[in-house]
Amino acid sequence: MTWLITGGAGYIGAHVARTMAEAGERAVVLDDLSAAVPERLEGMPGPQPVLVRGSVLDRELLDRTFAEHGITGVVHLAARKQVGESVEQPLRYYRENVHGLTVLLEAVVAAGVRRFVFSSSAAVYGTPDVDLVTEETPCVPMNPYGETKLTGEWLVRAAGRAAGLSTACLRYFNVAGAAEPRLADTGVFNIVPMFFDALTRGEAPLIFGDDYPTPDGTCVRDYIHVQDLAEAHLAAARRLPEAGSGGDLTVNIGTGRGLSVREMADLVAEVTGKREPAARVAPRRPGDPARVVASAQLAEKELGWAARHSVRGMITSAWEGWCLRHPGAR
Ligand SMILES: NC(=O)c1ccc[n+]([C@@H]2O[C@H](COP(=O)([O-])OP(=O)(O)OC[C@H]3O[C@@H](n4cnc5c(N)ncnc54)[C@H](O)[C@@H]3O)[C@@H](O)[C@H]2O)c1
Repeated sequence: MTWLITGGAGYIGAHVARTMAEAGERAVVLDDLSAAVPERLEGMPGPQPVLVRGSVLDRELLDRTFAEHGITGVVHLAARKQVGESVEQPLRYYRENVHGLTVLLEAVVAAGVRRFVFSSSAAVYGTPDVDLVTEETPCVPMNPYGETKLTGEWLVRAAGRAAGLSTACLRYFNVAGAAEPRLADTGVFNIVPMFFDALTRGEAPLIFGDDYPTPDGTCVRDYIHVQDLAEAHLAAARRLPEAGSGGDLTVNIGTGRGLSVREMADLVAEVTGKREPAARVAPRRPGDPARVVASAQLAEKELGWAARHSVRGMITSAWEGWCLRHPGAR
């Protein structure tokens, strides 16, 4: 197999590329470098992935890449991913995430590629009112970003069924950590980097709301180590049925365990050694659900995969990555 990894120079994509290279899979990365750190692809264990610079919106480039590299499977991670930005620029999100996927799927079908793994998100569920979110929980996305991911799933499954393409949609929960410091997330959009950012500036990390119906009143989430997530991609890529048989799998990629924002703040203080200033409670943010924790049973059953990293390991590795890019942080 030769895999095309779109968005493979991004945070999660580089972990996927590294994990696939380490497992001996051949990989070509396609990335327009709009939010990438291409150096992440250097020094991979196993065969070095080729980097093709360009967009999934460029059909000609896709056709050429499929032909030149003999691509037989695709892992599609390229997307815009900021919820707030998606509310301000919905047309851009639909163009990049939905139209881009359509163009890619057309090229996939034309090239006779038979396996397709799609990066979806727990954002498809919106604000689920359940203890554990299963794949049967209704999907009611709350913002354009989540809508593009749900629409993407529909596209992937429909195109897969029509063309005999085997597909997997992986719904990631809250991703954090790094396999190596240089692969770490560079954005400040998720809770862990947001806490690091505040502490580095000598400010109190903010906890949005402490009056939710949860044990300590703060929101509860399911945090998944990016290396576990990368291994779920490898498992999905290898479990997809052989050419021509079709079949689709839609599965949560989480741990099944919840951690509250307060517990996260305590752990971050412990790992970084920065106990002051202590986390401060701010008003709730609109649209934040009290609790979003995955049921991880289907992934275990279908992929033979389960998360194995601890939250502490996740924070420690994320902090090492943060300090590499922010030398004064310690
Ligand atoms: N980070 C999370 O917590 C999280 C959670 C759920 C789902 N996801 C999904 O995982 C995927 C990867 O996320 P990430 O955190 O690594 O983000 P990222 O921004 O680090 O990576 C996305 C990569 O895609 C590239 N890209 C963007 N648009 C492109 C296009 N049109 N053509 C080619 N390349 C393009 C960017 O340059 C970047 O390298 C996304 O699809 C995202 O929606 C992420």
